[in-house]
Amino acid sequence: MSIHALSATAQALLCPGKGLLAMDESTGTCNARFTALGIPATLDARRAYRELLVTTPGLEQGISGAILCDETLRQHTRTGVSLVHLLQQAGIMPGIKVDLGAHELAGFPGEFVTEGLDGLRPRLTEYAELGARFAKWRAVLTIGPDQPSRAALVANAHALARYAALCQEAGLVPIVEPEVLLTGSHSLARCAAVTEEVLHEVFAQLRTQGVALEGMLLKPSMVLAGPDCPDQPTTAQVAKATVTCLLRAVPAAMPGVAFLSGGQSADQATRHLAAMHEQFGGQLPWALTFSFGRALQQSALEIWAGQAANGPAAQQALLERVRGNHAAIRAGYPE
Ligand code: 13P
Repeated sequence: MSIHALSATAQALLCPGKGLLAMDESTGTCNARFTALGIPATLDARRAYRELLVTTPGLEQGISGAILCDETLRQHTRTGVSLVHLLQQAGIMPGIKVDLGAHELAGFPGEFVTEGLDGLRPRLTEYAELGARFAKWRAVLTIGPDQPSRAALVANAHALARYAALCQEAGLVPIVEPEVLLTGSHSLARCAAVTEEVLHEVFAQLRTQGVALEGMLLKPSMVLAGPDCPDQPTTAQVAKATVTCLLRAVPAAMPGVAFLSGGQSADQATRHLAAMHEQFGGQLPWALTFSFGRALQQSALEIWAGQAANGPAAQQALLERVRGNHAAIRAGYPE
């Protein structure tokens, strides 16, 4: 596919006022979230929940794309309509998580490398045939006294770049997601330094692999202090540190940054995004939006609790989070 087509897809995902709904939890993660709330960890419950999310009336007003996992991309509603078809009808682009998870990095205890490159080319071809327009691959980096190691940085950035090149070959826009994990006692300054280093390595590897920056999106974590750090920054400090880090490391040709929420509360994630727009709106080379999982879904999941009767209230809760984030990113857009 041409770079123009990839770039058009990326731009459509960045439609002003809209963001992405990350609903691509692996079966294991989804089951764990269900079990924590007493919801049966079954295929049917996962289907019912994902059907609830994609049939939320008005979702398309703040959501341009939904990231699905393999199971959901192939799934149908109770009445036999494919979830992909429902999204397409609503004007929401279906995307697919294609990595096979983070695994321990040999020789570096406590660090991870994301796997899934073997056999990726034919999988991408099939996903495109099933209707996916974009893809996602998540790398995780941990902050510790001696972490992330150079080995973890390079291995993860290299895998992200090879994944991104394969996606573009298959006509899918790659979402490149290097997540610096929130957990720990590190300061805001330390997270900023680590995130900047991670992003520099990621963009160096993307360049080495020939990835067209215009036809991809970046999904980073925000720059935050670890929850165990006694010195917690203000919302404005998080916004400034995050944007400063991105300005230093993310080329202007890359069209959009769509943040993950990474374990922040839903409200915190939205406030941080709004503060970035308030401080820097109109001055940045790329769009800044959201691609939240938990920060969009958690309240809806808790309200649903596996009971069909709670469906409408759960959809309302999802819509409220979507509207809050829509407002957060519109604040910085010229009307
Ligand atoms: P969170 O917003 O819950 O971090 O999820 C986003 C995501 O896609 C993780 O890979």
